[in-house]
Amino acid sequence: MKTIIEPFRIKSVEPIRMTTREERKKLIRDAHYNLFALHSDDVLIDLLTDSGTGAMSAAQWSAVMRGDESYAGSPSFYRFEAAVKNLMPFNHIIPTHQGRAAEAILFSMFGGTGRNIPNNTHFDTTRGNIEASGAEGHDLVIKEGHDPANMHPFKGNMDLEKLEAYLTKHGDSVPCVMLTITNNAGGGQPVSLENIQGTAALARKFDKPFFIDGCRFA
Ligand SMILES: Cc1ncc(COP(=O)(O)O)c(C=O)c1O
Repeated sequence: MKTIIEPFRIKSVEPIRMTTREERKKLIRDAHYNLFALHSDDVLIDLLTDSGTGAMSAAQWSAVMRGDESYAGSPSFYRFEAAVKNLMPFNHIIPTHQGRAAEAILFSMFGGTGRNIPNNTHFDTTRGNIEASGAEGHDLVIKEGHDPANMHPFKGNMDLEKLEAYLTKHGDSVPCVMLTITNNAGGGQPVSLENIQGTAALARKFDKPFFIDGCRFA
């Protein structure tokens, strides 16, 4: 028999409230089967999200103490900027506290009434920010992405034919092309490198800026 030991120690334990199956059935019924209407205190195992629900490493906790809260010129920012530039050679890097805050900034420029924004699948906060600006978001994931039983290896791929037809149809009302990697709202499905290149090529062909929503890149 093979024994698997997870190579870390968990140093902090947070108690959770146990519930019975009957209680859980009542709670989910009372929430009208809407997971967002549940109180997290009532949730034993959170399968809605992993955002902020996992343990932090010792290095992450100590970084909180090293963090410098200066109003300007903070070394924390320069460390962050260097880490991002190490991965992606952007000239301009704007830190935000969460993905949804970055979206609010992005769509204050790219959103607005009458605009149409394509994506493989918009995450719920992305769609929320787009629609709050007055624009419309559209999901153009490949048809295999809608079939949970399908074994296609890249079910987060953009449907490139649909995207080309979309860009032709909506013309100047499209401010940018987006691709969410991995496709969280589409079941966390991956996107192939070939599909990323194909999506970028179409964005270039139609002269649109290309944005990757990389909230799940790691
Ligand atoms: C693809 C994607 N976009 C945007 C967001 C929003 O990020 P945040 O929860 O940090 O606001 C998430 C969060 O899970 C996400 O997965």
